[in-house]
Amino acid sequence: MRGTVLVKLKFDGGVNLNAKDELERIAQEVAQCRLCELHYSRKHAVPGEGPVDAEIMFIGEGPGFHENEQGRPFVGAAGKFLDELLEKIGLRREQVFITNVVKCRPPSNRDPKPEEVDICTKQYLERQIQAINPKVIITLGRYSMGLFLSNAKISEVHGQAVRVKGRLIVPMYHPAAGLHQMSLKPIIEQDFLRLPELLSKATPSEQENSSPSTFDTDQPAKQLSLF
Ligand code: URA
Repeated sequence: MRGTVLVKLKFDGGVNLNAKDELERIAQEVAQCRLCELHYSRKHAVPGEGPVDAEIMFIGEGPGFHENEQGRPFVGAAGKFLDELLEKIGLRREQVFITNVVKCRPPSNRDPKPEEVDICTKQYLERQIQAINPKVIITLGRYSMGLFLSNAKISEVHGQAVRVKGRLIVPMYHPAAGLHQMSLKPIIEQDFLRLPELLSKATPSEQENSSPSTFDTDQPAKQLSLF
C-alpha cells in the first residue's frame, strides 16, 4: 500500500499497550544502566511504579536505603507518610505513579549531582512522563521541582498549581521534610487536601509533541499561574 502510513493502535481496556511496553522497557534499561556512577552503589534500581494510565504522578528525589533494598519507591518512613497523605484524600498508592528524579540510590543519601540528574531525567524520567501523560505531576522536594521551576522557592510556591510547557505541575515539600521539621507536617497535609479540587479542574496535558523537552530549565518564578 504505497503512500499509506500504517499506525498500529493497541488498546486493552483503555490502557495504551505501547505506553505499557515503554514503561517496562524503561524499567529494564534502568536495571542495567551504567550511564552514571550511581550504578556502582546500587543494590536494586528503583524505576518507579504505578498504573500506566495514572492521572497523578509523584516525583521524589532518589531512592534511599529501603528503596535500594527493595527496588521500590517510597517504602521507608517518608513513604509511610506519603501513604497516609494519599489516604487522607481517598487514594491508595496503587492508583498513582510514584518515581524519582534519579533511579539509583546516591551513596550515603548524598544529594544527586547535576550530571546524574541530567542523565537520568533525560534518559528515563522524561520518557516515563510521556508514556503516562499524567493529568498532574506533583514534585516532592526541591530536586524534582527544579526540573520544572528552576528559579522557584518551595516555601513560596508549595501547593500551587502551575502550567509548565503544557503540563500541570504542583510543587510540594518532600514528605521527609515533614518528618524532620514538625512545623511543615500540617502544611504538607493542607497542600494534599487541595489536590482533589486541583485534579477536578485539571484539563489534559496541553504539551505539544514537538516540544523538545518536558522540563523547563528557565521558568521565572514570577510567571507562576495559579488557580
Ligand atoms: N525519598 C525519595 O525521594 N524517594 C524515595 O523513593 C524515597 C525517599
